[in-house]
Amino acid sequence: MLRSDILANAEKMIDDVTKVGACDDLGLFELTAIQLHELSIDKPRQLRLMIAAVSFLYVSGNSVRGLNVATKAKLFALGIADIKSLTIVSMLIGICAADTGNLPLAMEAYGEALSLASSQSDSVQEGKIWQNLGAALAYSGLYREAMGCYSRALFLATIAPDLKPYESGIYLNIAASCLNLDEIPQGLSAIRKAVDCAQNPISQHSLLNRVLAENYYTRLLIEVDDFTGAQSHARTARRYADQCKSARAEITASVAEGLAEVFVGQADIGISRLTRTLDRALSLKLASREVLVAIVKAHEHLGHHDKALEYLKQMLASQRQTQEANVLRHVERHLKQLHLKDDGAPMEDSRQAIKRLATRAEVLEGRIAKRELFKQSVEGLERLAVATELRDDSTGEHSYRVGRLASLLAQEAGCDEEMVFMIDIAGRLHDIGKIAIPDGILLKPGPLNDSEREIMEMHAEAGSEVLSKSNIPQIQMAADIARYHHERWDGKGYPEKLSGENIPLAARITALADVFDALTHKRPYKEAWPVETALTTILSLRGHHFDPKLTDLFLALVSRMIREGVDLDRYLGEAARKSSFNQAKSKIWDSLKMAKDEYQAKSARATDYQR
Ligand SMILES: [Fe+2]
Ligand SMILES: [Fe+2]
Repeated sequence: MLRSDILANAEKMIDDVTKVGACDDLGLFELTAIQLHELSIDKPRQLRLMIAAVSFLYVSGNSVRGLNVATKAKLFALGIADIKSLTIVSMLIGICAADTGNLPLAMEAYGEALSLASSQSDSVQEGKIWQNLGAALAYSGLYREAMGCYSRALFLATIAPDLKPYESGIYLNIAASCLNLDEIPQGLSAIRKAVDCAQNPISQHSLLNRVLAENYYTRLLIEVDDFTGAQSHARTARRYADQCKSARAEITASVAEGLAEVFVGQADIGISRLTRTLDRALSLKLASREVLVAIVKAHEHLGHHDKALEYLKQMLASQRQTQEANVLRHVERHLKQLHLKDDGAPMEDSRQAIKRLATRAEVLEGRIAKRELFKQSVEGLERLAVATELRDDSTGEHSYRVGRLASLLAQEAGCDEEMVFMIDIAGRLHDIGKIAIPDGILLKPGPLNDSEREIMEMHAEAGSEVLSKSNIPQIQMAADIARYHHERWDGKGYPEKLSGENIPLAARITALADVFDALTHKRPYKEAWPVETALTTILSLRGHHFDPKLTDLFLALVSRMIREGVDLDRYLGEAARKSSFNQAKSKIWDSLKMAKDEYQAKSARATDYQR
């Protein structure tokens, strides 16, 4: 369709779709929303329409399209210096990015939205942003950080009455995070508050929220062995689900009922209810993860460990598929944006973008352009790799340090300049496959059992698969590093038990940097070791775990750096601190900390006064 035709009907189309809540041609809807700025209606109205379009796209499950429209709306809001709309649009970018599994982009957008809201002293908007940011962090397994955001939102609700209606939802989110952190008493107190401050649910939305709350109530009570209480809350969930008449509510209530039945001793009834619910969830592509979590828990409780493992694997496989699709979608989006012209023209597909980049690379004289091309292309992947890593390393610097240290070792090993550069960037992606590993295993403080280890080891293959599919030129080295960084020189590693020089050189190099960095830093399952102890351990693994020649070069390299007084963390993690994602993250963490200090100071003053 011609652009002029689209524009002639644009206003009516957006209005109709957002009112009715349905659309036959989403591609056309997205294109129309992106081109709205060409209309001759007043600018604030255009922006309102764009915002309505983004909200519709998000609610109707089309967040990638929502993200495209929101990105355009942001430029538009910047152009007319409309700060209030800019705040809302930045928050919407955060919501859509988080919904499509891109935590780094979400955090950057929320960070911006927060600074804008607080510069306007807009506590209501600020509260909403903290709550959404918390949900995004929790979705990525960062429950502790999520709790900080929720507390901030609750605090703002005490000073902004307009936030009151959100309070129940915030407590619900806190309860969910507590359940995942195994902090059951706090979870129970939060869920009681969530139920207390929810008004009598009438709308479909509030009914669904109540069903979700009753489901968490049930699960938390099971954790404290109050099975009768759990069953009574499961029944309440069912009652509200019957009124709500939404498939999501129906599935959630069945999960609560099935779990409660298993724990009160009606194992057959419970398991068959959960299995039926899983079929339904899978056929509707709705909340199947939630059902699988419940089935795994039920089978574990009944001592059916094989069954539990089977369902756990099914859960991981589907999670891995979703995450892989998310990663690839964002890589494609990133590649397109590298060459996106800002005229609203339809975006070219990633293959065309790569072709253009490659042609430009050739024109711009070989190597440097090629390197730059690779660096820019993997930037999106790099941020996702770091976001994954945040779960077990809150600094997000491990990947960068490993890449840099590996590149220094490559230099020592006589690799050419090209390889030294590439290994620095490619090494940052070595653990990107951990995106598929559940928190319970990744963050387990004690040793892993056999099946947990089997799942943990899947990260090598998962990482290399997603990288190979990413359509990025020269990605092979990164895919090799991801796949083979846990192979051992003596053939006792994984996933393929390769030995000696059959292991690609880049992976043998990265393995040394990776183990050294893991040893010298704190992990959920261990404290940080002193550098000397780590070096002695690496020496003892020479010829067993590690390539002997590379081990010698590595030990000499690190010893020399220490002799020269190099601050290893500072030096190796420099690129991490410069990355826009890490900067956004630090800003958010800092403002959370500041808010906490401020809050503590205030309550200390209040106590002084009372005394
Ligand atoms: Fe790894
Ligand atoms: Fe690692």
